[in-house]
Amino acid sequence: HERSFIMVKPDGVQRGLVGEIIKRFEHKGFKLVAMKFMVGSDDLFKQHYAALSSQAFFPGLIKFSSSGPVVAMVWEGVHAVAIARAMVGQTDPAASAAGSIRGDLCIHVGRNVIHASDSLESAKKEVSLWFTDKEIVSWASATESYVHEG
Ligand code: GTP
Ligand code: MG
Repeated sequence: HERSFIMVKPDGVQRGLVGEIIKRFEHKGFKLVAMKFMVGSDDLFKQHYAALSSQAFFPGLIKFSSSGPVVAMVWEGVHAVAIARAMVGQTDPAASAAGSIRGDLCIHVGRNVIHASDSLESAKKEVSLWFTDKEIVSWASATESYVHEG
């Protein structure tokens, strides 16, 4: 099973979308294995978004991301990384299909309410950047055999 790092951004928290976003991952059948509510530092977000450091929007992205609380989570399941990205939609909410999180819940690229890891490799880096091994909870979900075969 894969793990994806998912985060409700400060705009999602301020707009009261935490429950709605968590609901979508729960209802999909993924298993929550870590979660915390925190304000991420400038430095943490510079590491998190390091691949974008040369972009013109980078300073604004770091400033906004560290401006208030976020909900950082790790969700586990078969093909979790790719499925979570499909659930989230495109980077630009305007290009995101209705039914996706960004397609349904937001309008502007700089206020797109959620982060999801873009590859298995980024997911591994992000999970270890945001969580210690001890903060990842190993548990058996009673619904597992109803979510997938075998
Ligand atoms: P994340 O899940 O947050 O990583 O978004 P993403 O993977 O869909 O996009 P990407 O990693 O390329 O960019 C990270 C974040 O930077 C986006 O979610 C946007 O909030 C912001 N961003 C990306 N492109 C633009 C842009 O052209 N303008 C602005 N203002 N913000 C951008
Ligand atoms: Mg990204």
